[in-house]
Amino acid sequence: MQLFLDTADLEEIHTGVEQWGVVSGVTTNPTLIAKAGQDHETQVKRICEIVGNVSAECVSEKKDDLIVEGRRIASWHENVIVKVPMTWDGLAAAKVLAGEGVRINVTLCFTVNQALLAATVGAYIVSPFVGRLDDINQDGIQLISDIVAAYREQGVTTKVLSASLRNPIHVQDSALAGADIATMPFKVMESLVTHPLTDQGVSRFLADYERARAAGRPAAAGADAGAKPDLRSDYRKTQEPKAVEAPQGQAAAKA
Ligand code: E4P
Repeated sequence: MQLFLDTADLEEIHTGVEQWGVVSGVTTNPTLIAKAGQDHETQVKRICEIVGNVSAECVSEKKDDLIVEGRRIASWHENVIVKVPMTWDGLAAAKVLAGEGVRINVTLCFTVNQALLAATVGAYIVSPFVGRLDDINQDGIQLISDIVAAYREQGVTTKVLSASLRNPIHVQDSALAGADIATMPFKVMESLVTHPLTDQGVSRFLADYERARAAGRPAAAGADAGAKPDLRSDYRKTQEPKAVEAPQGQAAAKA
């Protein structure tokens, strides 16, 4: 499952892509673009310079308007995926745009039937909204499982992007349900690496290392800067003096 950030914040995107190295795409929507405080085109182009697979949403409602807007958004950058709403107009526009080679993300999907319609018009991605379903007492993750099952049954290649994720459990459940992509806010992605036992383990190992160093012996084989790791067993280390490596060439000559 690919991990996308659901944000238009450049700093968050830089962190996810360059610092963490786990983000392969970004989803935006008019709300997120408004938060970033830049005009749509400028912000989407900036995001596209950082990462591929950037969903940028149309705000038109009628088929013809959506087609014009979709073409314009697609022309901004090759990394753009054009987002259209799950409406008859959105689907009709998606069909035309997909026919022209534009990658389409049909967004605001809440049923299997809607997902089947998205696939029928040639969408590259469909976005079922997990959190918003949970909010109204329906099972968002079940929807992901059902769409994945229906797509498999029908041999559909449209990617299932699990959206509106609110917590780390949504992310792991999306993976178990078979989603191709999960998009999440920065805070949720940040929480994926966290576990108290990991933090405790790292602190304990560092403390043991420092204690051993203070006692004047190397804490671990190869712990000294520049030293080659000594992979011999403890028994061998007591039996044999450390082998001194012959310079290359000399070893070859002896052999
Ligand atoms: C996805 O493309 C949407 O931008 C997003 O996941 C919506 O999430 P929300 O329901 O938390 O607003």
